[in-house]
Amino acid sequence: MSEKIRVFAPATIANVACGFDIMGLALEKVGDQLTIQKTDDERLTIGSIIGAENIPTDPTKNVCSVAIQAMLDHIGSKQGFHIDISKNISPGSGLGSSASSSAGAVYGANMLLGKPFTKKELVQFAMEGEKAASEKAHADNVAPSLLGGFTVIRSYDPLDIFSVHYPEELIATVVFPAVEVKTADAKKILKPEVALSDAIAQWGNVSALTAGLITEDFGLIERSLQDVIVEPVRSILIPCYQEMKQAGMDAGALGGNISGSGPSVFALSKGKETAEKVGQAMSAVLAKNGIAYELFISKINPVGCEIIN
Ligand code: HSE
Repeated sequence: MSEKIRVFAPATIANVACGFDIMGLALEKVGDQLTIQKTDDERLTIGSIIGAENIPTDPTKNVCSVAIQAMLDHIGSKQGFHIDISKNISPGSGLGSSASSSAGAVYGANMLLGKPFTKKELVQFAMEGEKAASEKAHADNVAPSLLGGFTVIRSYDPLDIFSVHYPEELIATVVFPAVEVKTADAKKILKPEVALSDAIAQWGNVSALTAGLITEDFGLIERSLQDVIVEPVRSILIPCYQEMKQAGMDAGALGGNISGSGPSVFALSKGKETAEKVGQAMSAVLAKNGIAYELFISKINPVGCEIIN
């Protein structure tokens, strides 16, 4: 068994319009890389952090060590680990930055311990990293980052997660405007109660999106990529949101919405060509308004966390 491992943990789009806190999908290529090493003492230590500022190196605050500690506590292990982090997802981007780090950390430590847990079982520990970062232990980023694909959380208590089949041709476009939105802040502005009429609309869309993905019914996917609960409140935090979304729809997207808690905005399209046109149209809105951005076009990543060289 190797004592050192390098891990890729993909970025994610959480919520996927109607599935606030329960739906998520993994992206290809964009994500964090972690090097995790077993040590001879009982400490968890954070070494270099490349690609992001203001990430805590205090192991009681860093999401990687918090998540690994939760796993070690569960099995009563005192194994030490040293973690180096290379972040390719900006914190506060809405692409599951802290989730990728948390997921990659527990995936790598689990491998070095001889795989006592399945990827699905690791979600509960990665969620502790999410809690350290955003005050709430949601799983809609860590589940797809660990498992890959499109995941749904049926229940948080007990934790019950399932993966949903999706059409191969479904391509994500993500535009990340250069502003930061903290998940904790984006959660605080949400109303604690939901009108029954809104809940009915959301239930319909969540079940229809799941069915549309499984049956590869693009019409149903298109009709159900809607959110009547969270988007109206949060979209005010994102520059040019409505204009960007409309530009994506006009360019042929099936639908679009806020990625996680924003500010990234995503669209889903049938086929790469359309996804690229959608990306051009959405990013042109930001360019016109003088707002810097990053653009990603990605298939859904079927693998999730994986070992790399
Ligand atoms: N579901 C969470 C939220 C994801 O929207 O607050 C955070 O990225």
